[in-house]
Amino acid sequence: MNPLNHVAIIMDGNGRWGLKKYNSRNKGHRAGLDTVEKIIKISIKQKIKHLTLFAFSTENWKRPKSEINYLFNLLESFLKLKLKKFHKNNIKLKVIGEKKFSKKLNNLLLKSEKITKNNTALQINLALNYGSKNEIVKAIKKINGKKLEVTEKNITNSLYTKNIPDPDILIRTGKTTRLSNFLLWQISYTEIFFSHKLWPDFQEADFLKIVNKFKKIKRNYGDI
Ligand code: FPP
Repeated sequence: MNPLNHVAIIMDGNGRWGLKKYNSRNKGHRAGLDTVEKIIKISIKQKIKHLTLFAFSTENWKRPKSEINYLFNLLESFLKLKLKKFHKNNIKLKVIGEKKFSKKLNNLLLKSEKITKNNTALQINLALNYGSKNEIVKAIKKINGKKLEVTEKNITNSLYTKNIPDPDILIRTGKTTRLSNFLLWQISYTEIFFSHKLWPDFQEADFLKIVNKFKKIKRNYGDI
């Protein structure tokens, strides 16, 4: 049985779910947050150490301003409401991506990271304003700036995900089979699962089915 340390998720399908059910993409994002909570709980139960959630990509800035504002307001109220509980449950929060938001949100994210930094049950890596190609370019620039050699190890250690093990599993919901510029360096040996369910419909049982399937896979890493 494969050990499972890190699950990464592209939480796709909120917009379609909201439009279909309530004629509102934003209602889909609100419902998606309930799934986030369910998956956090089940990850702790499963003793998973890292949960990386793609919440906002560098490309998502192309969306209507009203949707972007809704998403960041949702994140802000969620953090304000849950920070204490996260801390109490020994959850560590880390943002991966460029923290270029409103001063208020930047400060709240920094505060959440600071308060929870020594927690050890589950680390939630929240990908916000995250793009993998941009992350790799920045890493190489950092290496060059320090006049170091460009090696795999130096790149790995210069990414936002420094000190985070590579994902064992990547899940993408929403019936779409693409990677959308997410963790391209980190997923070279990750097992990838695509779910047809839209993110608000994704349940604990769907997550567990994937986890159990993963545990039985023979991982070769290029060997036989
Ligand atoms: C992708 O669905 C989802 C997002 C871009 C945002 C993800 C946000 C949440 C799950 C809720 C908020 C989370 C936090 C942590 C506050 P989409 O909008 O691209 O869906 P579509 O493909 O149906 O349009």
